Amino acid sequence: MTSVATLRAPEPSGARRPTVREFLMCRPDHFDVNYAINPWMDLSAPVDQALALAQWETLRATYERHGHRVHVVDGVAGLPDMVFAANGGLVIGDRALSARFANPERAQEGPAYHDWMSAQHYAQVAAAHEINEGEGDFAISRNRILAGTGFRSSRDAHREVAEFFGLPVVSLELVDPRFYHLDTALMVLDDTIAYYPAAFSGTSARLLAEMYPDAIIATDEDANVLGLNGVCDGFHVFLSERATALSEQLRARGYEPVGIDLSELLKAGGSVKCCTLELHGVRTAAESSTH
Ligand code: ARG
Repeated sequence: MTSVATLRAPEPSGARRPTVREFLMCRPDHFDVNYAINPWMDLSAPVDQALALAQWETLRATYERHGHRVHVVDGVAGLPDMVFAANGGLVIGDRALSARFANPERAQEGPAYHDWMSAQHYAQVAAAHEINEGEGDFAISRNRILAGTGFRSSRDAHREVAEFFGLPVVSLELVDPRFYHLDTALMVLDDTIAYYPAAFSGTSARLLAEMYPDAIIATDEDANVLGLNGVCDGFHVFLSERATALSEQLRARGYEPVGIDLSELLKAGGSVKCCTLELHGVRTAAESSTH
């Protein structure tokens, strides 16, 4: 009889391994949907704040249970979207760039995240000059940063990020308002990406297909539950439990999907990744040259 362990671990050599990640999250103490700046935000649909908090606590506990370190920044009254920490800026190594938001409703989140970054002893902390919604529009992979534009972050922000971090930035154009941030339509995995081609202009979709011929292509159903808004630690992929086909695709590639229910946060147009700003370690030359 074949043992369960054998069935569960199909690839002993080349197996994927998680690495410990550091995340910044913001408790949804002030979360609500009381303005609409993306098509997911329906002012007539009530938000269950207690449930939002419980779901968020489950995400935080899930990260910690998988060995990751979670920092928490205090939310600010009157900033209901501050729970979406991914938008707070970009942190790579000892450099941090705080966000500058496109919509006035979220403008004050920029300084709030800036204050948190300033208290962390990074070598350099700057506030973005250009419209920049942090990891919402900037996906950091090992050898480059993929950057979205079309709804929020500007092309000038892509240039500013390339200069500030000294890393190559590839600009991608988003064309569907439901996928208003890059992280709603594309997720960086360990050595490839998963994405939803219909969210991109023809030129950008072709560019992604050329750069990542082995990418996972998400179904309409999975994209429509923001299944691509996930976080990968090299092995586990934390993502919406509703993204069932994507979870199977990930499993087939040797990843371990970890389903999360963030139904209340979805009412504001966010899921797992939106709630998570990764504080990336410094890239070594060896890492950057291999991928
Ligand atoms: N309501 C927020 C907005 O429209 C949701 C942000 C989600 N964050 C993200 N990284 N996609 O700005």
